[in-house]
Amino acid sequence: SACNPSTFGSVPTGDGLREIVKAAFSEAVTAVLSRGTLVDVNISECSNNVVGDYQCNSAMPIFAELKQKGDTSFSNPRSLAEAIVEAIPGREHLFAQTSVAGPGFVNVTFSASFLAAGVLDTVVNSTDEKIRIPPQRNMSIPKRAVVDYSSPNIAKASEMHVGHLRSTIIGETICRALESFGVETVRLNHVGDWGTQFGMLLTHLHDMQMGSDFAITDLQEFYKVAKLRFDKDDDFKARAQSAVVRLQAGDVQMRKLWEEICEISRRDFEEIYRVLDISIIERGESFYNEIIPLVLDELVKKGIAVEDQGALCIFGNLESTPLICRKSDGGFNYASTDLAALWQRTTQLEADQIIYVTDVGQSKHFEAIFDAANRAGWLDKKDNTKIRLDHVGFGLVMGEDGKRFRTRSGGTVPLRSLLSEAQSRCLESLQTRSSDLDDKELLEASHIMGIAAVKYADLHNNRSTNYVFSYDRMLDMKGNTAVYLLYTHARISTLLSRAEDQDLTSPAHQMVFTDEKERALAVAILKLPDALRAVVQDLLPSRLCDYAYHLCVAYNEFYSTCKVIGSPEEKSRLILCRATVFSLRRALFVLGITPLHKL
Ligand code: ARG
Repeated sequence: SACNPSTFGSVPTGDGLREIVKAAFSEAVTAVLSRGTLVDVNISECSNNVVGDYQCNSAMPIFAELKQKGDTSFSNPRSLAEAIVEAIPGREHLFAQTSVAGPGFVNVTFSASFLAAGVLDTVVNSTDEKIRIPPQRNMSIPKRAVVDYSSPNIAKASEMHVGHLRSTIIGETICRALESFGVETVRLNHVGDWGTQFGMLLTHLHDMQMGSDFAITDLQEFYKVAKLRFDKDDDFKARAQSAVVRLQAGDVQMRKLWEEICEISRRDFEEIYRVLDISIIERGESFYNEIIPLVLDELVKKGIAVEDQGALCIFGNLESTPLICRKSDGGFNYASTDLAALWQRTTQLEADQIIYVTDVGQSKHFEAIFDAANRAGWLDKKDNTKIRLDHVGFGLVMGEDGKRFRTRSGGTVPLRSLLSEAQSRCLESLQTRSSDLDDKELLEASHIMGIAAVKYADLHNNRSTNYVFSYDRMLDMKGNTAVYLLYTHARISTLLSRAEDQDLTSPAHQMVFTDEKERALAVAILKLPDALRAVVQDLLPSRLCDYAYHLCVAYNEFYSTCKVIGSPEEKSRLILCRATVFSLRRALFVLGITPLHKL
């Protein structure tokens, strides 16, 4: 069926397919029930695409609601469903087929002309660098979001470990997804630069009469020894604790040594951020030191924090153990800092949303902090709405033995060696395949692919579950991996480079879908805004991975059945290829993956 999209009135572009169906059904239900405000409906993808593309199953619950209210306008859910279908605005344009099944499930199949218009719109409005994601319907988007992620601890034995890698990768993708919708994001690295560990370290360094001329690995060793002393030796422990208090009170000598230690860690972290292509503002715990007393004062005045056995405590509604926000020795802790940071971000940074990316183990901590902030009124905005707070929790990284991911000797795996291991395994496997690349290009490709594989392996799981770290799995070129996506991207790019001289952007182009695979690819392409929306609303980067993977599967199926260059449908198929590549690049960009153009 040939179709000319230019004859196709006002196409609702910008939204993803699910949102378009949702808006159409919301309007229809609202009209049928003659309600003033839009009724929310439930839309899901059809599990079997012979039946349709999407399904609305809201007729049953709405019918039940009407019945309860004594409204007898409809005799059963099915007749309500039929009335809803009739009321869909622009139904003939949008859908080629609608059907009511069983007790009142409505299935819809998009019209070819609608899909063609969407694909053309993608090609016309995108460039190699970016694909346009216009503002979405019914989506509340913050103006400014603070994203607190990565946040390793300085001077602890752990250095930056896989947990911080997860936080870094997930947090960066959330930032990029927010930015796709025009949100101003402030990336903050809340490094642990102010805790008890410094007391131990500074005291131990003092005892050993050491300067600051040592590398981070020595620092790890030092920390281990200092920690042993701290746990065994009461005198050392007391001196370490008083050292922290002196540091926090601004002791010049202590402060100088502290700065040198921070600098050593910083150099190490920066190297990792460079490899991962992350730029984040370091604003560690120490930044908030001065404002902690003011913030705690306010909490005391408002009756939220109370003194209990010498410590300052915040009692929650349900939790029996309070949040301690000042220790009985007067020292500040993790919670004191987070309260001050939250105050600073809401009042001074004027964030509309604050997102914290850490392991799920910290969810109780954030619940308590958020609850205190809410009670203190820090979340109330002038327009009577509230600042949105999210704790984005993630699971553990496991080894293939089913235990926590460790080195053979049981230590935490240093990130640098983990990343370079992925890269060198990539190089090995690239070298075994035939390739268009020379040696230098192969090396570069392996660097990109190795990082991409690690990032994608992390992002594609539902973040709250643990996942198994396996080089073999993440480098499988036939699986749901970055390697598969990058090969597909290179294949499309190579194909398109053979047709570079063709102008595909004229909106008058005829698109034809002669094969079912072409239509399926169009549907896959047009789900991008839905996927990005899920990342922003549900803070689930895995949704974007699902999108990219299904897009590549649809492309490869299309490519294996449909000849492109030299076929009668050449132009139309090239438009599909180009829309695919733009959409895939956008997804890869948000996932922090650099696309490869040939392989
Ligand atoms: N440094 C902490 C850790 O390694 C994470 C900090 C997260 N951010 C925050 N505002 N508490 O566990």
